[in-house]
Amino acid sequence: MNEMNKKIAVLPGDGIGPEVINQSKKVLQSIEEIYGLSFEYQEALVGAIAIDETGNPFPSETEKICRKADAILFGAIGDPKYDDDPKAKIRPEQGLLAMRKKLGLFANVRPVSSYDALLPISPLKEEIIKGADFVVFRELTGGIYFGQPRGRSEDGNSAFDSCTYSKEEILRVSSLAFEAALNRSKRVTLVDKANVLATSRLWRETVQSIASEYPEFTLDFMFVVNASMKSILNPRYFDVVLTENMFGDIITDEASVISGSLGMLPSASIGKSQSLYEPIHGSYPQAAGKNIANPFGAILSAAMLLEYSFDLVNEARLVQQAVVQALEEGFVTEDINREAAKSTSQVGDRIVSIMNELAAVNS
Ligand code: IPM
Ligand code: MN
Repeated sequence: MNEMNKKIAVLPGDGIGPEVINQSKKVLQSIEEIYGLSFEYQEALVGAIAIDETGNPFPSETEKICRKADAILFGAIGDPKYDDDPKAKIRPEQGLLAMRKKLGLFANVRPVSSYDALLPISPLKEEIIKGADFVVFRELTGGIYFGQPRGRSEDGNSAFDSCTYSKEEILRVSSLAFEAALNRSKRVTLVDKANVLATSRLWRETVQSIASEYPEFTLDFMFVVNASMKSILNPRYFDVVLTENMFGDIITDEASVISGSLGMLPSASIGKSQSLYEPIHGSYPQAAGKNIANPFGAILSAAMLLEYSFDLVNEARLVQQAVVQALEEGFVTEDINREAAKSTSQVGDRIVSIMNELAAVNS
């Protein structure tokens, strides 16, 4: 990397967000030391904590910091005091959705893999999940999450959401999925509900037109109901999965069972000018402040940041290698091993020391 002083906006958010993001920061700081790099971190508010302090879940100050940054690291959003109040006008999740929309983070990339060290703890049979390794491209700024109109009828007795997609919205995320498939098995599975939804039929039509530019590719279509079953029965079937916003949300939570815990999965939300990195889990308020949350998803998100935004591939691999080693050592949080659990910060510290050990061996 030639330019030094890459700027990282750090948005810990709510619940366990700050604790897991602290571990990602430790990991990034140790990358700086090991490789003689220098990153600049700027913290900003988002979510319930931002509502408490500014009245806005995605304050303009935060937006400014994000726009100036080279990459954004984000923890989690959500607070039970809003979940328990369906009438709340301002909700923390609006901050995340506003951030995605305003920063144009249109593609959410979620790699899913099983880890050999975690095979025995999965409720799924080892022979089914061993070797599973796929990546989901979830469209992130369209569909039913954002479609208009939405709301309540005047008498309040009915409610409506709209699911809309334009060809352009489908094309830009699909192109990324096809690019990724170039370096994998050249197979893309489009997950939809084309037997019912008009938007899904537009997806099929549009993705088919892209596929014609990649003659050596296999494109298959799968209804979301079938894909959710198959991801558990035969996860090795999948390689690159492409899908719309809501289906992608649901099937990746489901797929996290393959990894062993929802806390394991990282993600990258790709935008035109910058990208954001976040674990796929939520704010897990019951665990907040207890130093028990699984930081691996957040740490692996930092690895994705290094690779995708800074093109620091070796650095990213070092982090990933350290994660695998920590899992093999059984150095894990209670969601993975209740009897011999380490704390969130102990896991972060161990990852940093493994990174140093590995770097010393490699140099
Ligand atoms: C995610 C989350 C969000 C989503 C929520 C918190 C709005 O579940 O990032 O997957 O539904 O996209
Ligand atoms: Mn989700």
